[in-house]
Amino acid sequence: MQGLLGEERRKAILRSLRTDEGTLSQDYLAAARGVLHELVTVPGLIRSLPLERKPGSYARNLLAGDDEVSVWAMVWGEGSATSIHDHHCSCCFGVISGAVTETWYRAINATEAVPTGEQQREAGYVACMLPSGPNIHRMRNFGPGEAISIHIYGFDHRTHASSIETEYTAIGEASIPHLPVHAAELQLRG
Ligand SMILES: [Fe+2]
Repeated sequence: MQGLLGEERRKAILRSLRTDEGTLSQDYLAAARGVLHELVTVPGLIRSLPLERKPGSYARNLLAGDDEVSVWAMVWGEGSATSIHDHHCSCCFGVISGAVTETWYRAINATEAVPTGEQQREAGYVACMLPSGPNIHRMRNFGPGEAISIHIYGFDHRTHASSIETEYTAIGEASIPHLPVHAAELQLRG
């Protein structure tokens, strides 16, 4: 599956993401943002790939990976949604086309979380989050049509099934405030 991008571009991306300080460092996050900004400015590059699609759900396509990072193209079918989850690793993403709605949550115990804000992420949007939080969220594609995003995670795809640490059940989902997420999260974005 790592042949989707072509070997040269795949190796160049992995080289860009390699830092001495590891995948929780500011150097790494800056590198991941840089790779994502490059990819979202040429959306045709990703859109032209033979990406897997799952109607009504989302499909993950591995573009590049090594022992520290993995880079995925996610194709979000209309109506698709992730669970409410947090991450065991750093997670950076950029929107290539369409829009995904990101809802943020605060855990109230080990299994339940309340929504704290919601934003629509349009094509060109790039963000990073760290496992130290705040990083409990859910992504959904309300359409119309599909959306495509690129996700760069600080995990080895051969040793972890996904970036998800814990999944939560929503409490009070009907009253999601359409407010910007709180300041600590905003500092990690951009
Ligand atoms: Fe996530």
